Amino acid sequence: MDTQKKLEKLQQMNAEAMLGGGEARVQRQHDAGKLTARERLDLLLDVGSFHEIDRFVTHRCSDFGMENKKILGDGVITGYGTVHARQVFVFSHDFTVFGGSLSQAFASKICKVMDLAMKTGTPIIGLNDSGGARIQEGVDSLGGYAEIFLRNTLASGVIPQISAIMGPCAGGAVYSPAITDFTFMVDGSSYMYVTGPDVVKTVTQEEITHDELGGGKTHTRVSGVAHFLAANDAECIRQIRRLLTFLPSNNAERPPSRDVPERLAGADDALLNIIPPLPSQPYDMREIVTRLVDDGDFLEVQPFYAGNILIGFARIAGQPVGVVANQPAVLAGVLDINASTKASRFIRFCDCFNIPLVTLVDVPGFMPGTAQEYGGIIRHGAKLLYAYCEATVPKITVVTRKAYGGAYDVMSSKHIRGDVNLAWPTAELAVMGPEAAVRIAHRAELQNAEDPVAKEQELGKQFREQFANPYVAASRGYLDAVIDPRDTYARIAASLSMLHDKRDSNPPRKHGNIPL
Ligand code: HXC
Repeated sequence: MDTQKKLEKLQQMNAEAMLGGGEARVQRQHDAGKLTARERLDLLLDVGSFHEIDRFVTHRCSDFGMENKKILGDGVITGYGTVHARQVFVFSHDFTVFGGSLSQAFASKICKVMDLAMKTGTPIIGLNDSGGARIQEGVDSLGGYAEIFLRNTLASGVIPQISAIMGPCAGGAVYSPAITDFTFMVDGSSYMYVTGPDVVKTVTQEEITHDELGGGKTHTRVSGVAHFLAANDAECIRQIRRLLTFLPSNNAERPPSRDVPERLAGADDALLNIIPPLPSQPYDMREIVTRLVDDGDFLEVQPFYAGNILIGFARIAGQPVGVVANQPAVLAGVLDINASTKASRFIRFCDCFNIPLVTLVDVPGFMPGTAQEYGGIIRHGAKLLYAYCEATVPKITVVTRKAYGGAYDVMSSKHIRGDVNLAWPTAELAVMGPEAAVRIAHRAELQNAEDPVAKEQELGKQFREQFANPYVAASRGYLDAVIDPRDTYARIAASLSMLHDKRDSNPPRKHGNIPL
């Protein structure tokens, strides 16, 4: 064969690989409102930046007539490219080829890019759309999954791992996304579950649809398995690109900062009017967060789950930060099981990837009741404490109002290595709220009082004046400063700058034993 013919063969093979499972199946994919694996990569990666790897790989199965059914690429497109000019590795399941099902060769392709991502310190993004283990390959397919799970685990905390669920994801296949750092879902066209509706019906007699059981709304509102929900494929990919702007490429790098014009200290009078006059009145902590971050740009993570705590990424003075904030507008900002697990995983992510933590505190305590106690609030609340204690990134805390009881300790207090602890004059740092405190500490006095109601009010007022303020904590040095709320941005920005080269570490050990 002369060179021209060799080139023609290459071109013909390339063209064949581009077809995936063929026009009819591509049409079916589009009819289902989904993009193809290649269309998704085109949107995800900067134009012209994609370099494909293993385009000509085929499966090696010879059972069930599979030897006659080989498609170049074998149902997954892998390679690398850039997002906002920074390198990422990618794999994108091609549902048009054997339903995107995972063969041994398919798994090897994914493992190859995962290994390269690790060696080069580069994030990996998986776009999932798969019928699961390739039935014809049996245990080879199961082994392929396990090799991916192993790599997910070893890469955890070393490179950011992002999963998008853009179609089916069932059985053990769900555990790869579950180990990764962030899971995106597309509303209406994606689902994740360990067993589908048919098995559920057989085992528990429940009748339920795919969407109700494992759709995007279920996992972003009810289970908390997924972090972000998009209306369609294109929006999902836009969200992934936005998330990446806040993240470093690996655990040895700092997150990418931006140059910003300096904001005037004391300029934001609105911060004076957010906390309502009565301590029991709710307000929206999101309003404070968006006023404290550059351009009001707050990428909230898990916005529909455990709304009593807010988590997300933002920038302050151009520097990416992870924000954790109690939300008094939902359940008075109490810490319950879901809020604790939601925030602790986020804190650990930020700590892995050198993203400073900014914590805004207004918390009445941990949620009481049998549902919470039987559900293990002690164990789950301990995760939050553990996550804050072990975090060595810069930690800046601002108490806006309540910091009561154990929750005071937990929410990045000075005692657990908070670097800069600030409070607004409206802050109340105490073992509990004045009403409850008086009823316990002055029980006998109240019982013997001529007018118990008046007595309770009088003692409550005394207690509030004496303890429900930031000045006792400030006198001990547990707060570094009580600040004018209008200065908060400037104080946080200065603290971030002061802590820029912070070094701290934990004792050497194999790993800690977080209360899982
Ligand atoms: C081989 C598969 C496949 C699979 C789908 N296909 N899933 N081939 N192995 N697991 C093929 C179909 O034969 C079909 O081929 C094409 O993909 C499209 O599938 P359809 O059924 O036509 O598509 P749709 O109606 O959209 O249904 C999609 C589906 C369904 C819901 C995913 O295909 C399905 O239920 N598949 C099986 C899912 C499953 O049980 N997988 C195992 C899960 S357990 P043609 O040639 O007709 O186009 C698991 C364990 C992982 O994965 C363990 C890890 C530890």
